[in-house]
Amino acid sequence: MLTIRETLEAGITKALVKVTGQSDAKAQVIYATRAEFGDYQANGVMSVARQLRTNPRELAVKVVAEIDCGNLLAKAEVAGPGFINLFLSTDALAERASECLDDAAKLILPVNKPQTIVVDYSSPNLAKEMHVGHLRGTIIGDAIVRILEALGHCVIRQNHVGDWGTQFGMLIAHLKTLSDDDKALANNLSDLEVFYREAKQRFDADPAFAELARSYVVRLQRGDPECLEAWQRFIDESLRHCEEVYELLGVSLQRSDLCPESFYNNDLAEIVQELDNKELLTRSEGANCVFLEEFTGKDGNPLPVIVQKSDGGYLYATSDLAAVRYRCHTLGADRVLYVVDARQSLHFQQVFAVAKRAGFARSDSHLEHIAYGTMMGEDGKPFKTRSGDTVKLRDLLDESVRRAFALVSEKNPDLPEADRQQIAATVGIAAVKYSDLSKNRTSDYIFDWSSMLSFEGNTAPYLLYAYARIQSVLRRLAEEGAAPGKRIVLDAAEERALAMKVLQFSEILRQLGLDGYPNQLCLYLYELSGTFMKFYEGCPILKADAELRQSRLALAALTAQTLKRGLNLLGIEPLNRM
Ligand code: ARG
Repeated sequence: MLTIRETLEAGITKALVKVTGQSDAKAQVIYATRAEFGDYQANGVMSVARQLRTNPRELAVKVVAEIDCGNLLAKAEVAGPGFINLFLSTDALAERASECLDDAAKLILPVNKPQTIVVDYSSPNLAKEMHVGHLRGTIIGDAIVRILEALGHCVIRQNHVGDWGTQFGMLIAHLKTLSDDDKALANNLSDLEVFYREAKQRFDADPAFAELARSYVVRLQRGDPECLEAWQRFIDESLRHCEEVYELLGVSLQRSDLCPESFYNNDLAEIVQELDNKELLTRSEGANCVFLEEFTGKDGNPLPVIVQKSDGGYLYATSDLAAVRYRCHTLGADRVLYVVDARQSLHFQQVFAVAKRAGFARSDSHLEHIAYGTMMGEDGKPFKTRSGDTVKLRDLLDESVRRAFALVSEKNPDLPEADRQQIAATVGIAAVKYSDLSKNRTSDYIFDWSSMLSFEGNTAPYLLYAYARIQSVLRRLAEEGAAPGKRIVLDAAEERALAMKVLQFSEILRQLGLDGYPNQLCLYLYELSGTFMKFYEGCPILKADAELRQSRLALAALTAQTLKRGLNLLGIEPLNRM
């Protein structure tokens, strides 16, 4: 089923094509920039007029005469140099909103052509514990998969964890020289940061240890069972740490979504062979490389993508090429999304280009890097502890819950402690997630406790509170015996605005399904809450006559439902009371 915007877009595009004969003309329908311009506006006439060297206003007048959008439009008006302002029929809005009451599934309209979409996200390196650098990819990716699923796509999550490479030789060597007793080992691994640091110190200071570490890498690659066993123990422990964080964050990744780098070990020789067969391989200083003319360094010389080192070892790019092949050909992906730090953008451009050239990607699969910026400290440098260490994600989340508890206790000192704790657990985690999701993902942003825990502005506490408030209104009205109706009537301007906002939920999600900007959903939910508040102030519910009261109650309940589903898509479970 089409959203309102899509219905308008289709109807006006048809009129535009009919009048001009230009089959590729597009109506370009967007939200009206000002209320007096109507609800939506079509901007496409001007560019077609430019192409045809004709007067855009005159063209717009002809197009308006041909528009057929069923009962959706009340009027269409030519404005300015050739815009078409679109005013929706209030009855049509009321009808669409009422349909959502009968069928909750109408709140999120599924896409017409579901696709198979592989989403690679979180994907931490298992040599170390998850740190703040993993927050963004994990929660942005998780919001994106939830939204794609809600739109009806077949989504395959891939947690491409780093579990292979030279670092693991060092870690195994360290592990093997410690006690083999399971309890002692668990103790040693309870803090992976410390464990890694110790291993690294020994590696740097003790040549014999470094030699041992290197020999373990070789043995590991050869599949030596004893070595694999130690490696597996380390990996299991590290995964346990990750899963604790996922659980705390409410992230939907499961063990079964794991597809680690090591999964591709047996494919790597074949990948290199295949590149050779396609005559894409060049030997350079003993290494096997692919040079593509579109990638040059600062000096203008071509940049290599190294796929095999001179010692025979494979690289990050090699397993990524194998992963592209697996995702496109075995998993059957129409799209593969890589939710990864923007600093890896060159890596992905190169991998995608090589994969296409070599046929590892299907010609009709889309490979997309969903890049995100860095989380900065107040000093504008990447977020660190005071002593300059990386901040463990776990510690950051614990601190947020602590701060939320203090805040909730200050606001509600009389609430029993257990309730305050429960609220704090939700608010603390939601605040960290939401403050990140609400920023444009491509920019760096400054991590700031006071703004994310504020009850004002586009924040998690504000939205959670808005949701709890609607719920409490609905409860109070229910106690008074008022029940929501089955039909929505739109009398007041505030009611109409609220119904339209609710119906735009699907539109926001569809756009997000295409470009992956969760901040658009955050902004939408924030505006939805604001639109509700205006409705609540302007449209008395209890005092209204029976039909209107039932309609207003239904509209309030629909808003609550939209808010809840929206927050759920961001991985936040709102509370009914706060
Ligand atoms: N493990 C990598 C890192 O920590 C991220 C992996 C992203 N996914 C991929 N297919 N390369 O930087």
